This record gives sequence, C-alpha cells and structure tokens, in this order.
Amino acid sequence: MIVVGVAGGIAAYKTPALIRLLTEAGHRVRVVPTEAALRFVGRATFEALTGEPVCTSVFDQAAGVDHVALAGGARVVVVAPATADLLARAAAGRADDLLTATLLATRAPVLMAPAMHSAMLEHPATRANLATLAARGVTVLDSPAGRLTGADSGPGRMAEPADIAAAVGRLLGAGPWAGLNVLVSAGGTREPLDPVRFLGNRSSGKQGLALSDAAARRAARVTLVAANVDQPIPAGVEVVRVGTALELEAAMAARAPQADLVVMAAAVADFRPAEPAGAKIKRAGRDGLSLSLVPNPDILAGLVAARRPGQVIVAFAAETGDAAASALEHAAAKARRKGADLTVANVVAGGAVFGEDVNDVVLFGADGAEVARASGSKRAVAEVILDAAAALVFER
Ligand code: CTP
Repeated sequence: MIVVGVAGGIAAYKTPALIRLLTEAGHRVRVVPTEAALRFVGRATFEALTGEPVCTSVFDQAAGVDHVALAGGARVVVVAPATADLLARAAAGRADDLLTATLLATRAPVLMAPAMHSAMLEHPATRANLATLAARGVTVLDSPAGRLTGADSGPGRMAEPADIAAAVGRLLGAGPWAGLNVLVSAGGTREPLDPVRFLGNRSSGKQGLALSDAAARRAARVTLVAANVDQPIPAGVEVVRVGTALELEAAMAARAPQADLVVMAAAVADFRPAEPAGAKIKRAGRDGLSLSLVPNPDILAGLVAARRPGQVIVAFAAETGDAAASALEHAAAKARRKGADLTVANVVAGGAVFGEDVNDVVLFGADGAEVARASGSKRAVAEVILDAAAALVFER
C-alpha cells in the first residue's frame, strides 16, 4: 500500500493524476489529505480514485484509517504537494492531524514533493525544514521553476505527477530485494479426525507473517502459504490458504520452482489420521478411542530435494531439550541433517513462543554452526533472519 499525503496547496489539483498513475501501476493507494487540502480537492475525488476511505483526523472512526495502521501498512509515504506548513509540522515532529501522525509513525520511506510560492520556498525557515527532513532520510523532490499560481513565475512548482510516480517506483524498487521471489509458509496444519475435529498444533503464524511483511517491505514479491492463520495478512503479500499438511505440500511444491528464497515457518503435523471418519465420532458405547495415524510427507525434505541452483531454503526447528541433548544441540543436529541453508531454532519449553509477539532464536548454517542470534519482537527477529538469508541469496 502507498500512502499519498496531500497538503493544502493549489498544486493539489494535480494529485489525482499521481494517484491514477499509482493505481494503474497496480498499487493500493490510501489518500490522507490535510483539512486544508480538502478545500482544493474534495474527499469524494480521492475516494472514487482509490476506492478507499479518506480521513483527515486521528479522531475519525472509519475502520483501518488510524495512523498506526496506515503507517505500518505503507511501503512508501509520498506527500504531494508538501506545503511550507506541512514541511514545518513534519520537521518539528508534530502529530496534529492524521497525515503528520502517519509521517511520525511510519518506518517506510518518505517522499516529499514541495510546492509553494518561490518566496516561501526560499525563506530560511523552509530551507531549514527541508534540510532537517532530508537529514532524516526523507527524499525531497525538486520544485522546478515555472509559472506559479498567479502571473509570476519562479521555483516552487510541484514536480510533475509522472516524475513523482517514478520516484515512488525507485523507492519501492530500491535495494537488492526488489523483485526477489520469496515463498513463506506460516501457521499450523490441521489434520481432520472427523468433520468437526482435527489434530493441530499451537503455531499462530505470527513469525511467518512478520517474515512476509519484512520481505514485502524490502520490495520482494512475497507469497504466503497460510495454514489456518487467523491474523491479518500483511499488505502487499499474496496469500494462499491451506488446511492440511498435504494441501500445504501441494501449495509449496507448485510455487517453489519460481522462488529465490523459501521459508518453511509453518508447523507441519508429522502424522495424520489414517482414515478421517466421514461422520462425527460418537462418545456413546466407547471406553476409549485409539487413533491410527500415518506419516505426512516431510515437506521441507521435498523442497530441499527439488531445490534449484541458487535457491535458498530456510527451515525452522522448534526444539525441547531432553536426556540426550539440549534443545540447541538438537537444533544444530537438525540443521545438519535436513539440508536447509539456514535453520531458525527456538526453544519451546513451556510453550513459550506460541502466539507471542516476541521470539528468541538461534540461527544455524547448513553445517550446524551458529550464524546469528536474535530476540525481541517477531518483526525484529524477521529482519535478522532476512539479513542472514540475504547473505546467502546474494552470494549465489
Ligand atoms: N517440516 C516439514 N514437513 C513436516 C514436518 C516439518 O516441512 N512434515 C518442516 C517445518 O516447517 C520446519 C522443519 O521442517 O521448517 C523442522 O520442523 P520440525 O517439526 O522441527 O522437524 P521434524 O523433522 O519433524 O523433526 P522432529 O522429529 O523434531 O519433529
């Protein structure tokens, strides 16, 4: 999703053309105008062009228009036009409307297309604000000279919509991950026992979702194979929903050949009921119930066997220690045994990681040697995993 902020300047009349270029390029666009911007272009225009709700205030109640959701979902935030007042508020770190709050909350790249009268652009206050924003990593487009609103001319025109769209494209496509094909499995499989019951596990899918989100923000093309995930799917991620291990296997096998990076974060049931009952298993007349289980395929093993040259495969290992070895010793052994390029191990004693927003992992190379450790939010852990994978993806 791209957030297009619009401040209150006459150049806002050109912003619909920018929005059109972005939506035609396939982007989902959310427009966040200031109150003043709506004096130049009506809310209805922005809503019609994007098919999305348009709000100006953090107090508007429409679903999904809060600054945190906008900031978190954005791959790029572009402000066009950025007026002198908007630049001043952004430089000061203010959050007095939805747009400035979004700018403050986002970690996505920010692009500003200033537009104002030459005298305002050349004022030392505006120059200082532009310098402050640039020093913080904001990309500031030139404001070319030309005819201004009135009869006079000079610098201060907003960059042309096509040039702004191209700059957005560069920000999206910047960096080595742009266009890389990433395939992630997440969640936990469920194996039906009868029409109402299943054998499942406690995986929430949160770490796999965080990985998908982090890869999409690096501009990778991400496909998520989600096994029973009830969390929201990150913006820009294509999702394929599956239920059982066999469905997960088929979905992964169909997509892995195109993938540069495959991450098997899903918790796969190793066994499934030999013959799920066609009707609900009744309690009456039973002293107990024995289940007959048959093995599921080792999906990771299949992916490793079919790995094409240059493809990198990341496995997960949820381990507990036992009399034979510690959890991490088991994980290192699994890393050597299963043939993945990278194995992300977590210790699950007491069910510690399931459903949590934080994680604590050790990464092992294919030789079983430790390559990194990470702890903190699942998002932060995802960044460390992607960095470790990147070292392998880009060396091939
Ligand atoms: N995995 C898989 N197919 C399975 C089981 C696991 O692809 N049937 C994948 C998981 O997604 C994970 C890795 O293999 O990336 C390790 O999972 P884990 O359950 O720890 O491995 P197992 O080989 O099943 O080992 P264990 O005997 O410890 O359960």
